[in-house]
Amino acid sequence: MIIRDAIADNAAEACEVIRASITELCIADHRHDPDIVARWLASKTPANVAARAASDRSSLLVAVENDAVLAVGGVKDDGEITLNDVAPKARFRGVSAALLKSLEARAVERGAREITLLSTETAHRFYLSRGYRDLGPSPGKFGAAVSYPMRKMLGPEAR
Ligand SMILES: CC(C)(COP(=O)(O)OP(=O)(O)OC[C@H]1O[C@@H](n2cnc3c(N)ncnc32)[C@H](O)[C@@H]1OP(=O)(O)O)[C@@H](O)C(=O)NCCC(=O)NCCS
Repeated sequence: MIIRDAIADNAAEACEVIRASITELCIADHRHDPDIVARWLASKTPANVAARAASDRSSLLVAVENDAVLAVGGVKDDGEITLNDVAPKARFRGVSAALLKSLEARAVERGAREITLLSTETAHRFYLSRGYRDLGPSPGKFGAAVSYPMRKMLGPEAR
């Protein structure tokens, strides 16, 4: 598996990974509520993914194995992680842990001193065990019950 910047050609496949991750993995968040799922997926289009890949203020990274996209992650230059989704068939193989390290490293390269994100219920434990701390409860996005604003400070060892 390699982790690299996404290119426009990856947009359709990356978009499918994002949509499958939301639909099939984030059940603790949307609880199969079709309205929540529809709101969540509305902006998850190949065109939007391509625009994220082309942005000069953020990075879109993909984890790729044998030409297949396994996971997709986005981070703004200021350190906000905006996307972190894994293909359901690639779950629990360490793909997201590796992708998160790459997203953090990219933010460090761009000068960020902290990483922030809004975690799903599904991923909350994953971030807690990787050094992220809760900033306080928040209403869930897209009508879900709860989201978790989180932060991780980047020490000198991360630079
Ligand atoms: C939670 C999620 C992000 C983890 O991604 P992943 O690629 O499956 O994770 P990795 O294999 O890198 O990570 C390891 C986690 O899976 C656990 N794990 C590994 N193998 C497992 C197994 N067979 N069964 C259950 N858990 C397992 C590990 O213990 C570890 O969790 P922990 O460190 O908190 O204990 C992902 O599975 C997921 O559900 N994503 C949905 C989208 C989402 O919510 N994204 C975040 C938006 S902010």
